[in-house]
Formats: sequence, structure tokens, C-alpha cells
Amino acid sequence: MEKLISIKEMFKHYPVGTGRFTALKAINLQIGEGEFSGIVGPSGSGKTTLLNIIGSLDVQSEGSVEVLGKDVKSLTHRQSASLRSEHIGFIFQTYNLLPVYTVYENVEFPLLLLDYTAAQRKQMVTDALQWVGLIPKLKSRPAQLSGGECQRVAIARAIVKKPQIVLADEPTANLDAENSHHILQTMVELNKKLGTTFVFSTHDAKVIKYLRRKITLIDGQIAFDEEISQ
Ligand SMILES: Nc1ncnc2c1ncn2[C@@H]1O[C@H](COP(=O)(O)OP(=O)(O)OP(=O)(O)O)[C@@H](O)[C@H]1O
Ligand SMILES: [Mg+2]
Repeated sequence: MEKLISIKEMFKHYPVGTGRFTALKAINLQIGEGEFSGIVGPSGSGKTTLLNIIGSLDVQSEGSVEVLGKDVKSLTHRQSASLRSEHIGFIFQTYNLLPVYTVYENVEFPLLLLDYTAAQRKQMVTDALQWVGLIPKLKSRPAQLSGGECQRVAIARAIVKKPQIVLADEPTANLDAENSHHILQTMVELNKKLGTTFVFSTHDAKVIKYLRRKITLIDGQIAFDEEISQ
């Protein structure tokens, strides 16, 4: 299996006052095409930091990180933006929706950076909104939505372009059991049909149940890395 994500001896330090805080320590991690994996661990263990580095939103302090065969640290701003816009869908822990845009426009946004016709975009946005059950809200703005609905818009926006990799930071934190189940089914389907690689960060037992690989972070280190047979 080709390794889409390859991390070797990676450390992340944050400057704090006159010193530094090491959020990730000696991370070695390979994630292959089509994996359905999750990073679990207590609050503050480094899950978001790790996803941000994989998604080239942040850079490591030491060691190497390759995503889709590219050394992310050596990419220019423009190259890392194009890696993200073409191949990576990101679901942020804090949604990051655009407040002045409607649900429809938020989901369409990543497609505007790519070469799709208006008709193709319409079809893709409609499909994505259908997957997350938000067709009735397509004209609403984020402020008019519940937390769980915002989370579903963020999920639709991440999967609308059918990226190779979806990085999902606690994607079900605000969803009820029924919606979590439905969203996870959709992701499993994308994983099976298109071979989309998923990397979650989660505390949620409902998500953990679906994972085929569970990577446990404790104090910035990988404590366990387990295959889960279904
Ligand atoms: N910009 C920053 N400067 C200094 N420390 C930071 C910074 N960002 C994160 N940290 C620290 O790094 C550690 C890991 O943070 P991270 O957000 O990755 O945790 P997490 O596992 O995602 O937690 P949660 O489950 O609460 O979302 C925490 O101790 C946090 O305080
Ligand atoms: Mg986090």
C-alpha cells in the first residue's frame, strides 16, 4: 500500500515565554491510501497539532513530514495552498465557516479554486448537502444554524471535492447519535467507493467504533497504534 502520509522523528515545539513547550515528540507514523484511522487521546495530547501539520496548515520543528510524496516543509506558500485545495479536505474543530456566506456558498467555496463548471459545482454541492442532510438549510447563514448543523456544513465543505485525504478534527463533537451515525456511514461509503483516506481526531466512542486503526497520543507521543478488525 502506498504511504500517503509519512512522518519520521517529528517534533513540534511552541515558543512559550522565554522557553518552549513540546507538543509532539518523536512521532513516527505512516498512513496508507484508503485507511480509515483515528487519533485519540486526552485533551492537550497533540491531536489538533498533528492534524494541522499533516494538512500543511502548520510546520513541524524537527523531523520530516511527507504528504502525497511531498516534503511539506519545503513547499512554498503557493504550493502548500494548492496541495490543500486539490487533495485535502479539512474539518476543523471550530468549523471555520464564512459567516456572511450561506450554507450553499460555504460548501461551494473550495470548488471555486478548482476547474469546475457552474453546472458541475451545483451537482457536487447538492450531493454534499444531501449526504449531510442539509438541503432544507442551503440558504441559511451559519449564525442561523445550530452547532451540529454548522458541523455538518463543515463536513460537506470538506468532502464536496472528493479529496484524496480528509482530515477531521473531532467531526462529531456537536452531533447527536443519529447524525453521528449518518455522517460516519457517509464517510465509510466515500472510503469504500472512492478510496478516500480519513484521519480523524476524536474522543467519541461512536467514532472509535468505526475506525479500522486507532492511534493513541499521550503527552505528544504515540503510545499505541492498533489495527481494529471489524
Ligand atoms: N500556539 C500554541 N502555543 C503554545 N502551545 C500550544 C499552541 N497550540 C497548542 N499548544 C499546546 O499544545 C498542546 C497540544 O494541543 P492540541 O490542540 O494539539 O491538543 P488536542 O489533543 O487537540 O486537545 P483537544 O482534545 O482539547 O482538542 C496543548 O498542551 C496546547 O496547550
Ligand atoms: Mg484538538
